[in-house]
Amino acid sequence: MLLRQASDIRPSEITDRSLYLDRRRFLSVGIGAAAGLVGLAGTARAAALTGYRKTMVLAKDAPTPFKDITTYNNFYEFGTGKSDPSRYAPKYFKPILPWTVTVEGECAKPGTIGYEDIAKPALMEERIYRHRCVEAWSMVIPWIGVPLATILKRFEPTAKAKFVQFVTLMDPKRMPGEMMPILDWPYREGLRMDEAMHPLTLLAVGLYGQTLLPQNGAPLRLVVPWKYGFKSIKSIVKIRFVETQPKTTWTTEDPQEYGFYSNVNPHVSNTRWSQETERRIGDFFRRKTLMFNGYGDQVAHLYAGMDLRKYF
Ligand code: MTE
Repeated sequence: MLLRQASDIRPSEITDRSLYLDRRRFLSVGIGAAAGLVGLAGTARAAALTGYRKTMVLAKDAPTPFKDITTYNNFYEFGTGKSDPSRYAPKYFKPILPWTVTVEGECAKPGTIGYEDIAKPALMEERIYRHRCVEAWSMVIPWIGVPLATILKRFEPTAKAKFVQFVTLMDPKRMPGEMMPILDWPYREGLRMDEAMHPLTLLAVGLYGQTLLPQNGAPLRLVVPWKYGFKSIKSIVKIRFVETQPKTTWTTEDPQEYGFYSNVNPHVSNTRWSQETERRIGDFFRRKTLMFNGYGDQVAHLYAGMDLRKYF
């Protein structure tokens, strides 16, 4: 079984859960009072998400506090500092809705899909995942999302679809960092088809029971928990099925430093630092980084026979 339902998980594995619930209770007083999806459209406040399936715990550790998840971010469209996204995204990135994703390329039914068709309670579930950044820090995030495969299948990818490319919104007025030559905008990412269709791969629409805040990639972003965080592209407007490995922002930026696969791999160092350990946000001591970020049982078979030092 690839994913374990909450009922299959031993109590010893979820001792963090009460802590998480306490935090959530606190949050529901602190910010959960925000009203409906209007929150997403007009203000920087998160709106409560309800009716989704709970809870697939795929990280044993306590979730990182909401405050850290929403104030220590990478979202270069709003600056390169960790606090820039929480400072500037709520100010500039609005309104967020309406939001449409265009799906095109090697598929029988190209078209568009609206945010409301993705963020349907019947499709959504909560997944608590470890989140490991290439910069060697990590968090544990209770995402709410829809398995990406559920959405992709609707467009009927053809046998020629070997990879999937994802593209972020290009709108320098709402994303002022795109006026600066920091990256080759718009931000792009890609997955192999089997990675995109893997049940762990999530199209996230929320975290901690609320819609995503702008700084976390509202209204929808990718989450690929066994890969470095930069694969988890934010604020997606285009998904393209393609036959050959697509260019991505970071492989274009520096192919020596960022490979296409970017699986979390403690045995392959970055050109500037080791990937053997990581700093969990909020912890004092560093911890050992796990191969595939600890999701090897679920994903290692995808890479059987591949030299992961070459295909890093
Ligand atoms: N997506 C876009 N469009 N722009 C970005 O700069 N940064 C990536 C990824 N997705 C980024 C992005 C990086 S480097 C990381 S580590 C994660 O988003 C961070 O996600 P978080 O801020 O929600 O933790």
